[in-house]
Amino acid sequence: AIGCDHAGFALKGKLMRYLGERGFRLKDMGTYSEESCDYPDIALALGRAVVSGECARGILICGTGIGMSIAANKIAGIRAACCSDTYSALFTRLHNDANVLCIGARVVGEGLAADLAEIFLTTPFENSGNHPRRVAKLSDMEKL
Ligand code: RB5
Repeated sequence: AIGCDHAGFALKGKLMRYLGERGFRLKDMGTYSEESCDYPDIALALGRAVVSGECARGILICGTGIGMSIAANKIAGIRAACCSDTYSALFTRLHNDANVLCIGARVVGEGLAADLAEIFLTTPFENSGNHPRRVAKLSDMEKL
């Protein structure tokens, strides 16, 4: 699933083309124009699609990526990571099993955004050692 607010609209289009050409199947959760909208609405719709299993992972784009990540992380079952470097995009999959990547369209260029998305979508969780226990603790914290 991929979604954005007005600030991320242009980058969403570019990422959809890039990822589509590489064979990823995408569900566009909006927004569908540069008209101003509220990022929590998009984060909620996309988060629900990921938690329900309808979509394996999500990519959310706003101006900074931060509003989207704050919103998405309110949803039980979502582990959203706002990344602007490829090392973080790699390790948030390997160690955190992040299921939503947030990107700031006003922070990173389209080339880096494409790399972030591709790394995020192709890197598995390192499901061994300390990592599963720590991710389970994240899930437990949703019950606090
Ligand atoms: C919209 O101007 C901007 O606030 C939004 O895209 C995002 O950066 C919020 O975190």
